[in-house]
Amino acid sequence: MATGPDRKLLRALSGEALSPPPAWVMRQAGRYLPEYRATRAEAGSFLDLCYSPDFAVEVTLQPIRRFGFDGAILFSDILVVPHALGQDVRFVEGEGPRLDALTGRAAFDRLREAGDPAIFTHLAPVFETVGRLRAELPPETTLLGFCGAPWTVASYMIGGRGTPDLAPARALAEADTALVDALIDRLVTVQTEYLVRQFEAGADAVQIFESHAGVLPAARPPTAGTVEPVGDVAESALPGGSEDALTRWSLKPIARMVAGVRARVPGAKIIVFARGSGLDGHARVIPETGADAVGVDWAVDLKALRARLPARTVTQGNLHPETLIAGGDALDAAVDAVRAATAGLPHVFNLGHGITPQTPVAHVERMLARLRG
Ligand code: CP3
Repeated sequence: MATGPDRKLLRALSGEALSPPPAWVMRQAGRYLPEYRATRAEAGSFLDLCYSPDFAVEVTLQPIRRFGFDGAILFSDILVVPHALGQDVRFVEGEGPRLDALTGRAAFDRLREAGDPAIFTHLAPVFETVGRLRAELPPETTLLGFCGAPWTVASYMIGGRGTPDLAPARALAEADTALVDALIDRLVTVQTEYLVRQFEAGADAVQIFESHAGVLPAARPPTAGTVEPVGDVAESALPGGSEDALTRWSLKPIARMVAGVRARVPGAKIIVFARGSGLDGHARVIPETGADAVGVDWAVDLKALRARLPARTVTQGNLHPETLIAGGDALDAAVDAVRAATAGLPHVFNLGHGITPQTPVAHVERMLARLRG
């Protein structure tokens, strides 16, 4: 039987312990790279970059050419989905995303229905980018697609922007639970289809970004008793057998997506990154969502997490982006610490959040040299 190309990242996601572990970096195509800044300037706006397959393919390939990462992540943004649903989305230079905030039922009713084919016409350039990437990437490079988790995307749609504590989303989840449930449902349905189409276009695996899991214990359903706003998520389970906020708003909707994707793409490999959910939250991601791998943020003690997970569990992460900025011996030590915490276990090397624009390129080289020894 013919064997396919040797994609190490995909093997790790299937549970193989590899030494050195395969590596990629969240936001690896970004402003720390001079070639990204040049293409970005040529493309015009950030959304033009996302929707032009020529440019999106180019910036996705840039970090692969430079560093030979084991994984390439599709260049796009989690907010192209609200845009495809008909919400106004802009990226303001130096400030980040701005959306026309979804504050009530009327705004929700203006969104496209889940079955509206215009959603996927809007997203067609993304699928073209994926297909061209699979053709142009080295055969051994794993191609990752992605989307945002429903709660994280909903929080931007409701707040209209990134807000530190997601107050608008949490307030609406309490004031009009049915509306936020309907929004989450819409995102589950549309994004399940979105991920399936990324697989069909050539993605080898996908990551679901739950970047805003951290505020969830406070975003309890109205039937909830008193829940401590932060702290040990596992112990904030609601009285009366009711589920806690992390499960209700994050892990359950993600689980529906995972099951929905697998029903259409058997064996689909899925990573879930649940940033800010703490040691307990991270430990619950795979059992509660059915994901293949848990993306670990930098605040979690990787060794402690591994001690709580079965040995076959696949982890990804979690070097602190600031340690990468610092470089030097501290960087070497941090790389070694990730290796030590995951020795003999299936792991994908990555940062614990996205690489930042001020990161020196030489530090990325040093990190990979240390990793690959
Ligand atoms: O990882 C990659 O290289 C792939 C591309 C990618 C981008 N955004 C490109 C991007 C991915 C996977 C994302 C995901 C994303 N987008 C998340 C989840 C991950 C996380 O960081 O927590 C979130 C919350 C967003 C929304 C978003 N997009 C914000 C808050 C911002 C502004 C912050 C910033 O760094 O400016 C963006 C813009 C954005 N998305 C940039 C890039 C490279 C920078 C835009 C630019 O070039 O001007």
